Amino acid sequence: MPSLTWPGKHHADPVPAPLIQESILYPNGRGYPARFVSSEENVGGYPVRSTENKNGDVQGYPVDFMQSQPKDRPVDRLILGENLEVMAALLPEYEGRINLIYADPPFFTNRKYSARIGRGEDSRKPESWKLAEGYHDAWPDLDSYLQFLYERLERMYCLLAPNGTLYLHLDWHADAYARLLLDEFFGEDHLLNEIIWTYHGPSPIRRAFNRKHDTILVYVKSEDYTFNADKVREPYNPNTVITFKSSRKAGFGKVPDLDRGKVPEDWWYFPVVARLHNERTGYPTQKPEALLERIILASSNSGDIVADFFCGSGTTPFIAAQTGRQFIACDETFRAVHTTRGRLVNSGSAPFSLERSKSQPWKIDSAQASTFNIKLSSSSIQLGDSENVDYWEVDPDWDGNLFKSVAQAQRHARSGVIPQEIKIKTGHTICVRLVTINGEQYQIVL
Ligand SMILES: C[S@@+](CC[C@H](N)C(=O)[O-])C[C@H]1O[C@@H](n2cnc3c(N)ncnc32)[C@H](O)[C@@H]1O
Repeated sequence: MPSLTWPGKHHADPVPAPLIQESILYPNGRGYPARFVSSEENVGGYPVRSTENKNGDVQGYPVDFMQSQPKDRPVDRLILGENLEVMAALLPEYEGRINLIYADPPFFTNRKYSARIGRGEDSRKPESWKLAEGYHDAWPDLDSYLQFLYERLERMYCLLAPNGTLYLHLDWHADAYARLLLDEFFGEDHLLNEIIWTYHGPSPIRRAFNRKHDTILVYVKSEDYTFNADKVREPYNPNTVITFKSSRKAGFGKVPDLDRGKVPEDWWYFPVVARLHNERTGYPTQKPEALLERIILASSNSGDIVADFFCGSGTTPFIAAQTGRQFIACDETFRAVHTTRGRLVNSGSAPFSLERSKSQPWKIDSAQASTFNIKLSSSSIQLGDSENVDYWEVDPDWDGNLFKSVAQAQRHARSGVIPQEIKIKTGHTICVRLVTINGEQYQIVL
């Protein structure tokens, strides 16, 4: 079997980073003991995943994390940290247990990507956008990029369950090399698909064809892999339907079930997020929800563990939560983890744990209530000065240690409006945490 080599190629022996639990988030109070939560929707005691998701899947398992998880930790985990260290830390608990991994690493574009942090801006006027650092895809050379990928793919292989599937999303810059790396871990006969995701969009290229597709390499660990063809069927092309209706001989004599639809081909068209106003978070290179939905529905079942160690804006955990899967999501930038948290709390997902690796900087400054003009009544908290606030959350029974976020408010990406009042039953030590538009974190104990 051919293999790829480069100067300095080696297997890594990463040092696991201790993971520190920063908070438990109960999106809109879901799952938190009812005595602190005002809205009716929140009353419900400990979390039970809704029994049916939007695809009609019965999920059928209670998330009784208080008993089953170490340290009162929810099963769903969002982790800020360098993923090699994080995966090494997860290995003792998750080795051979993760059913699906979607990996969307930097593509070796040698670019630095900015995140759009302005809210309610005119997307047709890029010169007026407020930007912040997104993430770097800049490398000294190809060798260092290959070593980076190699070490992480090896960890992912170890974490994957025997029936598990890995989707590695890249483009023309490095997909050919990555295939050889994956062959090395999985065996070349375990390549399930090479998926081409095509899209449209403007391009400055004049001396070549416009590069408008990405490549997703799909590898399975064994022959016993999950593939739910019936969950991802799509309608036949209308011309195909007409042809089949007019002649039973069409399609090599086979008569397809026209109502059931077809299993999609290995080339997919989904519009890029730049064209999907309702999905846009401002995080660079965000992937469309429809793409992740197809992957997750095809290659995992309800209750399975889905992981994304390059989670960016959080498309994978967001769809995993919506389809009744457990998730582990990780990224090394605060902006990514903050964006992912916002998407998850908005979607009303089950409680999840926010963690960080010990080596990851994490700065929360103390502030006074007067700094943000915060006022308290018996049934709500008001944020008087919200101009620079992107997100705020409340723990109504602060124990001075683990923050339990029971109510959250965030600035709406399109309207730019942030709720200035959170309704909550007060009466104990209350802690408010907030994140400014520039990504600074503050904590106010009332
Ligand atoms: C292509 S983006 C992922 C986009 C994501 N799929 C989405 O839909 O938003 C790649 C992400 O990998 C993260 N990343 C790069 N190197 C990393 C590392 N060593 N550990 C953790 N995250 C990393 C970057 O911060 C960036 O957010």
